[in-house]
Amino acid sequence: MTLALSEVETALSANAGLVDWIRTMVKLCQPAAIHLCDGSEGEYRALCQQMVKTGTFTALNEALHPNSFLARSTADDVARVEDRTFICSKNRDDAGPTNNWHDPKAMRQKMVGYFDGCMRGRTMYIIPFSMGPLGSPLSHTGVEITDSPYVVVNMRIMTRMGKAVLDQLGDGFFVPCAHSVGAPLKEGEKDVPWPCNPENKHIVHFPETREIWSYGSGYGGNALLGKKCFALRIASVMARDEGWLAEHMLILGITNPQGKKKYFAAAFPSACGKTNLAMMKPKLPGWKIEVIGDDIAWMHFSDDGRLHAINSEAGFFGVAPGTSEETNPHAMASMARNSIFTNVALTDNNDVWWEGMKGEKPSHLISWLNKEWTPASDSLAAHPNARFTAPSAQCPVIDPDWENKAGVPISAIIFGGRRPSTIPLIYQSHNWQHGTFLGTIVSSQKTAAAAGAIGQVRHDPFAMLPFCGYHMADYFNHWLAVGKKSSEDKLPKIFYVNWFREDEKGEMLWPGFGDNIRVLKWIFERTEGSDNALDTPIGYTPKTLDTSGLDTTSEQLAEALKVDRGEWLKEVDDIREYYKIFGNKIPKGIIHELDQLQQRLTK
Ligand code: GTP
Ligand code: SPV
Ligand code: MN
Repeated sequence: MTLALSEVETALSANAGLVDWIRTMVKLCQPAAIHLCDGSEGEYRALCQQMVKTGTFTALNEALHPNSFLARSTADDVARVEDRTFICSKNRDDAGPTNNWHDPKAMRQKMVGYFDGCMRGRTMYIIPFSMGPLGSPLSHTGVEITDSPYVVVNMRIMTRMGKAVLDQLGDGFFVPCAHSVGAPLKEGEKDVPWPCNPENKHIVHFPETREIWSYGSGYGGNALLGKKCFALRIASVMARDEGWLAEHMLILGITNPQGKKKYFAAAFPSACGKTNLAMMKPKLPGWKIEVIGDDIAWMHFSDDGRLHAINSEAGFFGVAPGTSEETNPHAMASMARNSIFTNVALTDNNDVWWEGMKGEKPSHLISWLNKEWTPASDSLAAHPNARFTAPSAQCPVIDPDWENKAGVPISAIIFGGRRPSTIPLIYQSHNWQHGTFLGTIVSSQKTAAAAGAIGQVRHDPFAMLPFCGYHMADYFNHWLAVGKKSSEDKLPKIFYVNWFREDEKGEMLWPGFGDNIRVLKWIFERTEGSDNALDTPIGYTPKTLDTSGLDTTSEQLAEALKVDRGEWLKEVDDIREYYKIFGNKIPKGIIHELDQLQQRLTK
């Protein structure tokens, strides 16, 4: 609904803080109109049609992808911008060595400068949204203001959004999230399909006051502020203060052939396989995987002393390239309708295409850069970080408990990364402290999910390097403290996986995807007390894995599972070097685990 400011104030009057904030931001941003989002289907459709008119959206073939759209960004607004992402805590030391810190006063001034008149000629959309199921005591509310209708329609898929959220908020606490593409329109000026301000991108967090200001980018993680900015960077600080965990983790339900069900959570860095594992079609008969979430888990202890997790999102913002009927049929079904595709290619019959979708390349496409494309072109048809936005509820294997207000009990936590060498397919920690150590040593090749060179291995503790809203060593400490709140028998068991180990020729040793069930099966059985394990210097590895029906040779499997002392001693040196950035803030328990590992390797 487009409303006058006074009407907006009346609609928001239950929350004086919200009225104040909106009044201030309207005065600052000077939008031409204000639209309070109700979250309805009608509103969604109208905004999509409006974006078709402005060229932001291309409507897809109704028969092939009903009610779905393609969006093309500009070439310089395709991924998160980590060097433009700031944690503005009062003290520099609270942001720690892994975050870009900026003085909050100075940054606030800078942002007010950027936002001054930034919505001229545009509509300000006000989006009340809930991270987590409506009515769950574990959920939290945000309100995003934005001048991007693309953000509004994506937020409608990714969160619970609109009037119901406002009704529930009452006069309660909300995280204010200010977003602008940073491209005010002059009187009579024609808009461009993807307005943004690449020179001045700023993704800014004030952790103490729980505020987010994002300027200049329209892309996913920079602009859909409920996701990484709120549900991880701000929520990790809330979680530290309140004794829970806000994590970059998928949540899945796994049922064995006897019908016993458990829940696992897994943290892999961006574009390292969370969506794929979360909704995998198992290649072992009788096993079932159901998805609760594919990117973010909020975990709290229940009265029974077990960690329970909710997915704070309501949709998937998944990597398109590599997603196919073969690798991830359940993702393909999730995005069959009512979905948004960003930076994929367009086929001659108005459908979508990306690398890895089907064996044969189409003879002609329009690329994500809106250029003619043929298989002879020496460029990619879709951007490597092209994404689909699809409602979770459309996933054929969505878990019946995915909106359970109390969350689901977690039996195993799995860390992982993209490592061509050294790290075995799977190993298990000894206990919570050792498992926390495994979280601290996650490292992975950089992917296209963030701007910058890809392929280089970097440390990415807990897959939270770009998402932890405070000092990373304090975060390690928080994990250890959380473990002390319960007992080992009730805490999740902690594992580490690597689907990406390569042989000498650079070929992957492990088929991955649906075959990963073989590893999940071992994890399941270990949480049941199975003794199918070898005690290696780094932890427990499987004595045997279920390889029935697997093409992988026993040599390849042995290579994938191998723990090489020489490689690991190098790894230990590298970890010790890495820890230096944390100075003496690194917890003693973590150093103890590293020392013990080194001792076991040299024994
Ligand atoms: P974000 O949404 O960025 O957090 O990524 P994600 O962790 O959900 O990664 P996703 O599941 O989307 O996978 C990213 C890329 O890795 C895709 O191109 C997948 O095809 C590929 N991938 C996922 N799982 C596997 C696997 O088991 N083996 C191999 N070889 N590739 C995989
Ligand atoms: C990631 O980069 O980890 C994502 C996509 O899940 S984004 O929303 O851009 O953060
Ligand atoms: Mn992610």
